[in-house]
Amino acid sequence: MCGIVAYIGEKPAYPILIDGLFKLEYRGYDSAGVTLLTNTSKNTFRKKGKVKELDAIVDKTNLSPVGIGHTRWATHGEPNDINAHPHTSQDGSISLVHNGIIENYQVLKEALIDTGYEFMSDTDTEVIAHLIQEMRDSLELDLHEAVKEALRKVVGAYALVVTDKNDPDTIIGARKSSPLVLGIGDGELFLASDPNPIAQYTDQFIFLEDEQIVKANFGGEYEISNLDNTEAVNEIQKIDLKIEELEKDGYPHFMLKEIYQQPNTVADSMRGRLNKVEGWISVGGLNQEIEKVHNADRLIFAACGTSWHTALIAEYLFEDIARIPCEVEYASEFRYRNPIINDKDVLIVLSQSGETADTLAALELAKEKGALTYGIVNVVGSSIARMTHTGSYIHAGPEIGVASTKAFTSQLTVLMLMAIQLGHKKGTLSDEKYQSYIKALSELPNKIEKILDQNDKIKYIASEIKSASNALYLGRGYNFPVALEGALKLKEISYIHAEGYPAAEMKHGPIALIDMYMPVIVVATNESAYDKIVSNIEEVKARKGIVIAVINESDTKIHKLADYVIEIPDTMEALSPLLSVIPLQLLSYHIAVMRGCDVDQPRNLAKSVTVE
Ligand code: G6P
Repeated sequence: MCGIVAYIGEKPAYPILIDGLFKLEYRGYDSAGVTLLTNTSKNTFRKKGKVKELDAIVDKTNLSPVGIGHTRWATHGEPNDINAHPHTSQDGSISLVHNGIIENYQVLKEALIDTGYEFMSDTDTEVIAHLIQEMRDSLELDLHEAVKEALRKVVGAYALVVTDKNDPDTIIGARKSSPLVLGIGDGELFLASDPNPIAQYTDQFIFLEDEQIVKANFGGEYEISNLDNTEAVNEIQKIDLKIEELEKDGYPHFMLKEIYQQPNTVADSMRGRLNKVEGWISVGGLNQEIEKVHNADRLIFAACGTSWHTALIAEYLFEDIARIPCEVEYASEFRYRNPIINDKDVLIVLSQSGETADTLAALELAKEKGALTYGIVNVVGSSIARMTHTGSYIHAGPEIGVASTKAFTSQLTVLMLMAIQLGHKKGTLSDEKYQSYIKALSELPNKIEKILDQNDKIKYIASEIKSASNALYLGRGYNFPVALEGALKLKEISYIHAEGYPAAEMKHGPIALIDMYMPVIVVATNESAYDKIVSNIEEVKARKGIVIAVINESDTKIHKLADYVIEIPDTMEALSPLLSVIPLQLLSYHIAVMRGCDVDQPRNLAKSVTVE
């Protein structure tokens, strides 16, 4: 949520900043801006809209080798030119970009107004710019010390980068609860929200910890300190990101590319963890704490958005296969309801970005209360990955489309491996069933290919229902969370109102909505309760609803009842969500494209939600 990129080195900063902002746009895209550090009166450019709108107004003759850039997802103040970052201080010297929320900004603002400061914007961020100027001037501090002093007065979350016209050889970065990474190049330094925008210049990164501040100097020297003046110890991490992973690779949208990557990404999530020939599953992060997880009283899964849907499937998996009691929590609710947690609980947090603020807070709470914490994360080096006791990366590669697709299936793959490994260890899964799962898991990438081969058919179905105003998604058992995920995908990117429901619950409300205009997408690949789902489809048809059913190739009844069917290869029921979700991703994608929606950057959404 909000993307930051900054540069100090020998090269002109602007081309690096604008390229970085394009790569960060998935974090927010309602306005953007840059400051190019020169002593001219006009060195900050801000524009409502996407990064390309900003690019059109920047003075490209400005070759300053120092600059900061920002792409915004509005929290305080509507998206417009004035509220766009960077924000400058009263005398125009300090310029800063910020990701996060300053909770005590009203109090600070009133105090600054009393001192004579005038505010131009409605943002919380502008307060910090003036406050830094005030600290610098009233206490006669340099920029580095002034930022420290200002941040000691601030309550809230921030990743920020600051420049001062009076100190053109330095940029200052700081973080608390929002991510900021220092990229170390040859005589040049970068600061950014994540490594993606700077991966083409360096593979050496330092992830700043909470309440740390970095002084990046011209020439490539840097100094990291803690706000409380204790010694900061940070390791340089080498992160290799393939640049082509950040490109669309010939696909019209990142989302479509990411849907099509799934045969590979699912295989990557299993690599080294499943051996079909020798017949074993072994998940590294789980092995590190296997006794604690094996003997846990409860597994608590906490997540947001699509990751929360994965968590719902995890509950089915771990209870069914490993017979461990599970609870699934919205991270945002969990932390505020004084939950009962103890050291026999294991908290498993799921997060593609590894930065979601509510998920991070849930993790901190469970840690404080003594639970073992386990992270299932995509972004390497992210906050959740670093803060959990143990965990497993899902290895899906960068996911750029705001609507999550490949991260969902890779999270699921890792959870399936974990549940099956644990079930076998606990003896709740026989050797024979264990081997069946290993075989079935290893066949999944090819089965996903077979579903992707039906793209034209799914596109046709999309064309038939693209004008709907509402849609209902139904599923039972393992496929109920898939119905939720299908509905979320549709509403996120096509703005059609959609609801996911357990199929049997339809009779307790949603059935009242069904008429000849209502598409009802039924995920009906179940072995158990097959006849029940057949009855649910009959009930929809009796009310003239349009049924689109995702069925198994071996289906016997539903293909005769439904208006449209999408067949997927048979697999073991516990693994079926990994296949049944793929047609729903494609269906939403095509509907959104046909409705002219911005698929990769849907309105009001952001990929990484770093505010609560
Ligand atoms: C945002 C994204 C979703 C994502 C959710 C949780 O809402 O738009 O795609 O599922 O955050 O993000 P996380 O990175 O924690 O999985």
